[in-house]
Amino acid sequence: MALVPYDGNYLPVLSKLHNTSAEFRFADHNVRLTQDWNKLGVAAVVWDAAVVMCMYLELGQVELTGKVAIELGAGTGLVGIVAALLGAKKVTITDREPALGFLAANVKENIPPDQLGAVEVSELTWGQGLERYPKGGFDIVLGADIVYLEDTFPSLLQTMEHLSSESSVVLLACKIRYQRDTNFLSMLKQRFTVHQVHYDKERDIHIYKAVKLPARRDL
Ligand SMILES: C[S@@+](CC[C@H](N)C(=O)[O-])C[C@H]1O[C@@H](n2cnc3c(N)ncnc32)[C@H](O)[C@@H]1O
Repeated sequence: MALVPYDGNYLPVLSKLHNTSAEFRFADHNVRLTQDWNKLGVAAVVWDAAVVMCMYLELGQVELTGKVAIELGAGTGLVGIVAALLGAKKVTITDREPALGFLAANVKENIPPDQLGAVEVSELTWGQGLERYPKGGFDIVLGADIVYLEDTFPSLLQTMEHLSSESSVVLLACKIRYQRDTNFLSMLKQRFTVHQVHYDKERDIHIYKAVKLPARRDL
């Protein structure tokens, strides 16, 4: 299923996805990301949700300094890179295997050498091999534009539940394109307390903050 209405004669508004690079200024750093829509599609372009997430992180309303963070469905890695530049102690930047080489190159290009040890690029297909990641081991779980494939909703939720504890913060930057996207939010609300903490009107991106509900203890 297409993420966006796309064909060879793409809409002008989508033309930025076809640029070979995208440049930003975040955390007092110039961040330059290679894009390759033709080779890797959705994983190899920067989506507005990632940009809005970075703008939100820069506001400082979520403490990153000294925190252990993980990014899901990172694509070009913009969010994870900015989280590291903003002071996270350790950032694991993940996506599916085919995207990793490209992702790793963007990370290497944008993280200062003395900080590279704090950033790891790692394969994580939602719902698979979760035992490789510490249960409840992340203070912050980040995801930009990862709620769009209905088939993945159960495994995405399972992944978020695995990675977070009751004191973790899950931040999702979402473009709500279809009614079905809200189904994920309904699923999320069964396991997490969910609040919208930011809305970017210009780009129509919502940021939701989710905190895991205490485990149910049946008497
Ligand atoms: C729309 S892109 C968003 C990329 C990036 N977060 C951004 O906002 O620029 C969706 C990302 O989710 C990843 N993805 C999709 N299904 C996945 C799955 N089952 N497991 C892990 N990642 C997945 C894709 O590879 C892609 O990088």
